[in-house]
Amino acid sequence: MPDNNWSDSPRFDSKASEWDSNIVRAALADAVSRAIIAHLPVTRPENALEIGCGTGLVTMNVAPKCGLLTAVDTSREMLAKLEEKLIVDGVPNVMTELLDLADPESASLLPGSFDFVFSSMTLHHISDTETFLAHLSSQMTPGATLAIADLDTEDGLFHDDETEKVHHGFDRMRLTAMFESAGFTTVSFMTAHLVEKKNRAGQQATYPVFLVTAVKPQS
Ligand SMILES: C[S@@+](CC[C@H](N)C(=O)[O-])C[C@H]1O[C@@H](n2cnc3c(N)ncnc32)[C@H](O)[C@@H]1O
Repeated sequence: MPDNNWSDSPRFDSKASEWDSNIVRAALADAVSRAIIAHLPVTRPENALEIGCGTGLVTMNVAPKCGLLTAVDTSREMLAKLEEKLIVDGVPNVMTELLDLADPESASLLPGSFDFVFSSMTLHHISDTETFLAHLSSQMTPGATLAIADLDTEDGLFHDDETEKVHHGFDRMRLTAMFESAGFTTVSFMTAHLVEKKNRAGQQATYPVFLVTAVKPQS
């Protein structure tokens, strides 16, 4: 069973109304969206999945490039913000799902098998990275692409609340090994963005954000 405190839906529920007004966050989402779009498979994804879509800062940019996109989050209020945008902009191809993807039982409720999976700034909220990646691989079609953006190893001061349960970023070599253990190949990293912000200690700091892409082999 996953440790449910990690996804912390009450925390994200309470942040949903002000989420998009943070300009540092919006700039990050724009940069990650561009990086994800640059790494889309050559063939248009027909059944895509976004892990931890939040209010849809990345979703709204990537959705036009996909057939159907299932956008998943554990926070009802974050999803409600995305749903408002989908209605206002008349986006027909995004389906939202309130599910905990760190819980294999909950994740197995997802419809179908995915040919493109992407995520921004959610992996550090999932406690057991290895189990998560292994289960995710089982829900992807052979040849599918995975594109995940998250923090490089950080000083533990990125998040304002020190009680928030998170991984303090990821070491690229260790994460590569985890992807390969989960059966992915062609694991490749790029730096998608540098977050410049005041950290929890009040110091101006730079936090690099990577995009890692990988492929589920054909057989
Ligand atoms: C840092 S926010 C990023 C949101 C969005 N991707 C963005 O870039 O603005 C992390 C999101 O992941 C969601 N989340 C955390 N754990 C999750 C899980 N186990 N399954 C699905 N979503 C999760 C949170 O509710 C939150 O909306």
